[in-house]
Amino acid sequence: MRCIKCRGRANVEVKRHHSAFCSVHYVEFFRHQVSRNIKRLRMFGHTNQILIAVSGGKDSLALWDVLLENGYQAVGLHIHLGIGDYSRRSAEKTHEFADKRGAQLLETDVEQEFGLTISDLSKTLRRVPCSGCGLNKRYIFNRVALTHNFDVLATGHNLDDEAATLLGNVIHWEQEALRRQSPLLESTHPTLVKKVKPLYTLTERESASYCLIRGINYVEEECPNALGAHSLIYKDALNRIETMSPGSKQQFFQGFLERMQPTLQRSDPIVLKECEQCGQTTTGEVCSFCRMWNKARD
Ligand code: AMP
Ligand code: FES
Ligand code: ZN
Ligand code: ZN
Repeated sequence: MRCIKCRGRANVEVKRHHSAFCSVHYVEFFRHQVSRNIKRLRMFGHTNQILIAVSGGKDSLALWDVLLENGYQAVGLHIHLGIGDYSRRSAEKTHEFADKRGAQLLETDVEQEFGLTISDLSKTLRRVPCSGCGLNKRYIFNRVALTHNFDVLATGHNLDDEAATLLGNVIHWEQEALRRQSPLLESTHPTLVKKVKPLYTLTERESASYCLIRGINYVEEECPNALGAHSLIYKDALNRIETMSPGSKQQFFQGFLERMQPTLQRSDPIVLKECEQCGQTTTGEVCSFCRMWNKARD
């Protein structure tokens, strides 16, 4: 296998692009994809202050690296979720990256701020941890971005994440979630920060290859709560289709963005109000984050 750029020995094959790259040209390919996504969707520019949510996993660390290397002002945000050793190792990898690069990192600890770890919160509420965890993360991302006046929040969601979420949303015909599923969500309310996913055209494997070549250490294990989660079942199904028909995953998600999303966007947007308790946006009186914590503290 030869690199399509220099004809040297290829180290990474990207089947859906019918391409293979040597290490140098793979890094160039990956960064070019990210830059193209940022520019094409007008996610942000070099004068913007970017808050990047960093889990310590391959995607968010690869994205942080690309943003810093491309001269963007990207400050990290790591949330300590309190999911045993998994969380400890995630924090370690995040610190290691930030220290090596001299990059600024903000941190929030769910237990210190709200009184319970994600694990204890799920036990108290008798709910699967992932739903409460996702709600906490989204709420904290937005709140930190607002209080520190960031222009935009970036996450490391990749093509595998987005295609799996889309499959789940289609299986359950989640209309509102489908309408909001996009690599770019503009701010529609003063308390809602703009959100972007610059890795939405790149796969998990491609982020891992980028980290390997760049010598970035990341937490390799999945969250222990994700075992048996629907998202992993959907990812597995899509991977099987992809193996038999390379390019299907990208076609599925890209086709949705190009052909379905514009139609969904035309439907009336939901009216947002401010939560009576915390002031962040909600469609009711009290937001789902406050309702969850009210119940946990009852
Ligand atoms: P996940 O929901 O675990 O698939 O992660 C999706 C994205 O959310 C990651 O790429 C990060 O950008 C962000 N993220 C997940 N967990 C954390 C965390 N503990 N702290 C900060 N950001 C996170
Ligand atoms: Fe939130 Fe696993 S990362 S429950
Ligand atoms: Zn090459
Ligand atoms: Zn609230």
